[in-house]
Amino acid sequence: MSSTPQYLSGNDIRALFLDFYTQRGHQPLPSASLVPEDPTVLLTIAGMLPFKPIFLGQRTPEFKRATTSQKCIRTNDIENVGRTKRHHTFFEMLGNFSFGDYFKAQAIAWGWEISTQVFGISPQNLVVSVFEEDDEAFAIWRDNIGVNEKRIKRMGADDNFWVSGPTGPCGPCSEIYYDFHPELGDDNIDLEDDTRFIEFYNLVFMQYNRDVSGNLTPLQNKNIDTGMGLERMAQILQKKPNNYETDLIFPIIETAAKIAKIDYHQSDENTKISLKVIGDHVRSVVHMIADEIRASNVGRGYVLRRLIRRVVRHGRLIGISGEFINQVAETAISLSESVYPNLRKREAPIKAELQREEVNFLKTLDRGEKLLAEIIETVKQQGQKSITGESAFTLYDTYGFPLELTQEVAEENNLTVDVEGFNAEMQKQIERAKAAHETIDLTVQGSLDKLAEHIHSTDFIGYTATATTAKIEVLLVSGVSEEAAEAGTEVQIVLDKTPFYAESGGQIGDKGYISGDGILIRIEDVKKESDFFIHFGRIERGTIRIGDHVTAQIDTACRRRAQANHTATHLLQAALKKVVDEGISQAGSLVSFDRLRFDFNCPRALTAEEVQQIEELVNTWISEAHAAKVEVLPIAEAKAKGAVAMFGEKYGDDVRVIDFPGVSMELCGGTHVSNTAEIGVFKIISEAGVASGVRRIEAVSGAAILDYLNVRDKVVKDLSDRFKVKPEEIPDRITTLQTELRNSEKQIESLKAQIAIVKSDSLLQTAETVGEHKIIIAQMEDVDAESLKAAAERLLQKIGNGAVVLGSVPEAGKVSIVAAFSLEVNKKSVQAGKFVGTIAKICGGGGGGKPNLAQAGGRDATKLPEALETAKNDLLAALK
Ligand code: SER
Repeated sequence: MSSTPQYLSGNDIRALFLDFYTQRGHQPLPSASLVPEDPTVLLTIAGMLPFKPIFLGQRTPEFKRATTSQKCIRTNDIENVGRTKRHHTFFEMLGNFSFGDYFKAQAIAWGWEISTQVFGISPQNLVVSVFEEDDEAFAIWRDNIGVNEKRIKRMGADDNFWVSGPTGPCGPCSEIYYDFHPELGDDNIDLEDDTRFIEFYNLVFMQYNRDVSGNLTPLQNKNIDTGMGLERMAQILQKKPNNYETDLIFPIIETAAKIAKIDYHQSDENTKISLKVIGDHVRSVVHMIADEIRASNVGRGYVLRRLIRRVVRHGRLIGISGEFINQVAETAISLSESVYPNLRKREAPIKAELQREEVNFLKTLDRGEKLLAEIIETVKQQGQKSITGESAFTLYDTYGFPLELTQEVAEENNLTVDVEGFNAEMQKQIERAKAAHETIDLTVQGSLDKLAEHIHSTDFIGYTATATTAKIEVLLVSGVSEEAAEAGTEVQIVLDKTPFYAESGGQIGDKGYISGDGILIRIEDVKKESDFFIHFGRIERGTIRIGDHVTAQIDTACRRRAQANHTATHLLQAALKKVVDEGISQAGSLVSFDRLRFDFNCPRALTAEEVQQIEELVNTWISEAHAAKVEVLPIAEAKAKGAVAMFGEKYGDDVRVIDFPGVSMELCGGTHVSNTAEIGVFKIISEAGVASGVRRIEAVSGAAILDYLNVRDKVVKDLSDRFKVKPEEIPDRITTLQTELRNSEKQIESLKAQIAIVKSDSLLQTAETVGEHKIIIAQMEDVDAESLKAAAERLLQKIGNGAVVLGSVPEAGKVSIVAAFSLEVNKKSVQAGKFVGTIAKICGGGGGGKPNLAQAGGRDATKLPEALETAKNDLLAALK
């Protein structure tokens, strides 16, 4: 008989799971950060991610078995959140892992035991799936566990072959489903039917590595990776209709409902969706900020910003008008703080970030409303009936306007929205997002993954050496491993050791040469993948082969420039803290050969004085000739000494500390000058905002300054030649020219109007008499809208009682029409505003104005004669 299992809270489920596996020899580990060490993914998407290097054999595990409750974020199904029973951006994945220890039979036995014995689910309520080719798993379920064959479903690779990404560790899997309606029998089991089944536990038999071409190579070990959805288990055990109504999320929904003064259970479907979206997303954003992600326009920062904006937007949809996000965030924090104490510890930065983003976004929404009003105005003026999909999408994407909102406002204005066009834009956006996810060259990564088992990580000797002899370990052409390559080929090379710095910590990779017997390779860039340094270059001479002994030599002039710029970046950060605010922290940096860029968190622009003081302070430190002290220390010791660490950056146990005693001390893996005097001089080029709360300083230092000055000098000399003044007189000269230009423009305007009036005088003779009125209808050549209006007013003045309608084609693709009617004409129920609108429609446009004077535009000049003809007939009819 099936029976309903006992109620368990989310926290109980988590604790029971971890206990069960701890008792079975698993090391319980805390959840890893949402910011993964794995550079190929943006966010931690599964419990296995922190263990990927272990599965790949790149890292030796300290334990053979582990168990975790891992916080995860997935945004690929974001549009489904709130609409289905169980899609989330944030969720917790409970997992048990075996690193080359137990395998299939044991994982299945424990999976069954915990489901039935610990969580008390009756076997009648369980169905399992296996990969269609996995007879072994099928047999284990049937023979060892005793599951009825009809309740073991074979599924294809889409469902039952788990891959962590396009490449990487993978394997067949077996999933355990809860059956809400076992009374429907065993004959028509369709696991896709989510009204009957929910998958809650995935057991992955992780035994292959997949490369870019899709080939599978067995991993060194057979491993187990499992994932149980905590929220799903809570839904089952708490007998809720969906995950959102479980105790893990519902209190957040209730807070939001209270602020909106509504009741979740009494709400319509759309309101419920909005509440669920808020409940889900708020969990994501508090955890993301707790893990030191900050809102921005790129990468994870963009994910964060988008989630916050969706919360705010859905808040508006359910009638919340002001700020509210921190009230719901507070509920989310208090729900999880016992398990994730970090949330409360970082409460202040979480709330500050959320508030800043919310306020900014509310402003954006207001701007969006204005833009929408403008769009509607233009659409109407042009006589159109529909807002384009592109405009609706801009409103959605940039201003956070949901399509429904735009449609609602459009409707109020008797307009529609091109939904198809909107969907097409949305599709393009999804494609772009997908492309952006593949952040690194997966081809190269895939090949390296395959080779990782055979070669050692690169020995970097570039802190002290600029050249070395080395051996070619890996040779790739377009990402594919080759034995040899000839002159003219673009190649990627991994050496056993190298003096080339690989791009990291903002500093770009070294340039230089790899040479040998008759061979020369020009190296343009160096990047790091795991612990391999990949030299990107072109073979200039000879044929190279794997195993060749070569000399690797960096371009020392370039390196010296990078070093000067890198140390200058550290001095700049120290100066910012001294001059502006001790709390300033780095948000990003770029150190190249010709310049440096430093992004930092600061809510306001720097003043000109501050910028000058910073520049002076850095130059003082340069001239004081401080010697560098470079040490490798345990991280705790480095931090205790006060070394500045980069916000959100991951560090190993031992860190490299770059210390200019008394001036600057930072954790950094980059290359630096040995004495600040080597920098020579430092110059700030610009200070500007790059994102909300983030400023950017661009600067140059060392030898690069000369390049900068030469370029500037050339511009100044050129201007001085052209204006025939001394360099210091250039600004005044430009002001004078600007004033002259403005005056000339005004003169031209007034001359144009005068010409139009003169031309119009000849039209007086064409006036026709209709009853007691006179009418003039005419097309004028080369007259702009303003002058046309002046001419019409003047003509009306001259004829007194009557109507003047003038049209012109001021430029290709543009039609201008003006109507000026006297009071007597208005009395016959003809109003200039309405009249001109109707006429302009013929030319594919629209417009309006007052009863006595109105203007309209159009696009089809060929229709102007017809439009004026209609005007005449209409007036004749109306005034007779
Ligand atoms: N990695 C698998 C998943 O994400 C099992 O943990 O489903």
